[in-house]
Amino acid sequence: MASNLYDNTPLGLYRNRPKFKWVILGVSVAISMASAYYIDILAGQIKAREKKLIVLYANTLEYFSNQENNADLDFIFDGIILSNKSIPVVMTDDLGNPLEYKNIGAADRAATAGARRQVLLDEIREMEKEHEPLLVTLRRGGAVTGHQFIYYKNSRLLAQLKYYPLTQFLVIGIFGMIAFLAFDYSKVAEQNKVWVGLAKETAHQLGTPLSSLMAWVEYLKSDAELKGMEMIAELEKDVERLNMIASRFSHIGSEPILESTNVYRLVERTLGYLKKRISTRVGFTLVCFPNKDLEANINKPLFEWVIENLCKNAVDAMGGEGKIHIKILKANEGQIIIDISDTGKGIPKSGFSKIFQPGFTTKKRGWGLGLTLVKRIIENYHKGKIFVKRSDANRGATFRISLKS
Ligand SMILES: Nc1ncnc2c1ncn2[C@@H]1O[C@H](COP(=O)(O)OP(=O)(O)O)[C@@H](O)[C@H]1O
Ligand SMILES: [Mg+2]
Repeated sequence: MASNLYDNTPLGLYRNRPKFKWVILGVSVAISMASAYYIDILAGQIKAREKKLIVLYANTLEYFSNQENNADLDFIFDGIILSNKSIPVVMTDDLGNPLEYKNIGAADRAATAGARRQVLLDEIREMEKEHEPLLVTLRRGGAVTGHQFIYYKNSRLLAQLKYYPLTQFLVIGIFGMIAFLAFDYSKVAEQNKVWVGLAKETAHQLGTPLSSLMAWVEYLKSDAELKGMEMIAELEKDVERLNMIASRFSHIGSEPILESTNVYRLVERTLGYLKKRISTRVGFTLVCFPNKDLEANINKPLFEWVIENLCKNAVDAMGGEGKIHIKILKANEGQIIIDISDTGKGIPKSGFSKIFQPGFTTKKRGWGLGLTLVKRIIENYHKGKIFVKRSDANRGATFRISLKS
C-alpha cells in the first residue's frame, strides 16, 4: 500500500527526534509529579504540626484562664505563645472583636488602632476560609466566664510550599524549552554548514572541467570540417546545462542576491526548458492573476531549481502522464502566491510535513532531498513559505509557495 511508504524514513535521518522530545517531556512531567507528591506529603505534615501548635495554644489559654496568676506558669505561657513565629493568629472575644494577634505584618504596620482593627477583621475573614476557629472556654473556679476564638491560617512557609510544584514545573518547562531551542539551533547551524559547504565544493569542482569543455566546444565550432554539425549544437546545450547546474550550486553556497523579477515570465521560461526533457504526455497550463506583471523578490537560478524540482516530482507522481497546472496570483499586498497542482497519486495527510524531511522518499531510486532543497531555497533564501496546500488520494496534490514581492 502506498500509505505504508510514508511510515518509514529510508535514510533514517532524525527519525528519533520526535521520540526524544516525548522522552524529555515525559521525564519532566514525572519529576514534577513526583516532587509535587512529595511536597504534598510534606505540606500535610507541616499543616498537622501547625494545627497541633494552635490547639496547644488554645488549651494553654483555657488552662491559664483557670489559674491564679503565677510567675512560673507565665514563663511557660510565654514560651508557647512566643515560640510561634510563623503562624498568623488572631484572638477575638466571643463577639468577634480582635483582642490580640501575632505574625500579621500588616497589622504591625497599621498607623492607628482603627486601621489595625480593620486589618485584623479582614484577616479573620480570610482565616475563616482556611480553618475553623478554635473555641476557647474561659473558666474561673470551674464556672464558665466567657469565650474567645482563635483564628489562624497557614504559615507563609506552608502557603509557599503549595505553589512550589507549579513553580518547579514552570522552571523545568522553561529550561526544557531553552534546551530544545539550543539543540534545534545547533542542529540547524550544522545542517547549514553541510549544505553550504557541499554546494560550494561542488560548484568549485565543476568549474575546472567546465571551462575546459567550453574551450573545446569553441574549438570544435571553429573547425572548418566539423562546423555546423548537429552534434556540436547538442554538445553546446549540454555544456550550458552543466553551467547552469554549477551556477545553482554556487548560489546555494553563497548569500543569494534577490532581484525584483517577473514571476510569470520566469516560470514560463523554466517550463520551456522542462518540456523538452519530459514526456509529451504531460500537459502544462500556466495562469496569472490579476495580470502577468506580478513581480517578486527572487534569485533566478535558485527559483528555477524549485520549479523544476516540483514539476519533476509531479511528473513522477503522475507516472509520466497527466496535467500540471501552475497558478500565480497576488494575495495580500506584498505577497505573491504560486500554486503548483498535478493529477498524480497524491500525498496522505500524514506525509504533508514528512516529505520535506531530508532523506524521505517513496521512490526506489529517490534520494529524498528534492523537497528539502526546495524548502530551503524558499524559506531560508527567499524568506517565503512552502507547504502542501491540498492533496487527495489519486487526485493529485497542490504545493503552495508564497513569496514577498
Ligand atoms: N507532487 C507529488 N505528488 C505526490 N507525492 C509527492 C509529490 N511531490 C513529492 N512527493 C512525495 O515526496 C517524496 C519526497 O520528494 P523529494 O524530496 O523530491 O524526493 P524524491 O523525489 O527523491 O523522492 C517523494 O518520494 C514522494 O513520495
Ligand atoms: Mg524529487
